Amino acid sequence: MTNKSRKIGGATVLSAMIAASGALACDPGKPGYDLTGEEAAQVYDCLAEALHDGYTTGAKRWIPADKIAEYRGWTQASSFPAAPGFHDSRFLMTWVNETGAEEYMRYAEDPVIPVGTWIAKESFTVTDDGNAQPGPLFLMEKVAEGTSPETDDWFYMAVAANGTPMGVNVISACSDCHQGAFGHQGGLGYPVEEARVMK
Ligand code: HEC
Repeated sequence: MTNKSRKIGGATVLSAMIAASGALACDPGKPGYDLTGEEAAQVYDCLAEALHDGYTTGAKRWIPADKIAEYRGWTQASSFPAAPGFHDSRFLMTWVNETGAEEYMRYAEDPVIPVGTWIAKESFTVTDDGNAQPGPLFLMEKVAEGTSPETDDWFYMAVAANGTPMGVNVISACSDCHQGAFGHQGGLGYPVEEARVMK
């Protein structure tokens, strides 16, 4: 059995059992690009507990484990999991800690993001066959000016769906796209407009 089965919750137990046989109970049965916002939200509601269980499993090594444990208590900046067409057509849910929520949620062209801001972005994919699959948790931390000039003082981190910290080259795998595409808005991509929660 997977660790997911330890939680007693009908859908979670069921999804863990079915996962062992290769399919998830949260599968919407149609391709991700055909899902309405409401349908994507239903998939998320079904997956949410298993997603969080996965991210918090195991040692976090260089990633602060307390942030992974607590991000669900931060402010939710997207009202439903939206698929912007980046991040491998993933559906994304964005959370911002108290330090940064107000400024991030202005979705401004030229934000002044406070040092100590943390942003967590959960992800899942829905394949063309209609199967829902948990994806990585993406993290950004705004660090003190001059700490990491190459990334405009953003630290990038990612945790795989099973909780393993992902050893990626954050310059080429994260920062280059964020700075290249969104350098004019502080390196932030922001959720698609219809999913943004205004502060
Ligand atoms: C090909 C471009 C691209 C790459 C590569 C990329 N991102 Fe993003 N990222 C985006 C876009 C676009 C958004 C906004 C879309 C959304 O959140 O709905 C975003 C949003 C985010 C957010 C939410 C904060 C924000 O910008 O609004 C985090 C956190 C994040 N990415 C982390 C990462 C990490 C960590 C990596 C590397 C492992 C990474 N990203 C790689 C394009 C990219």
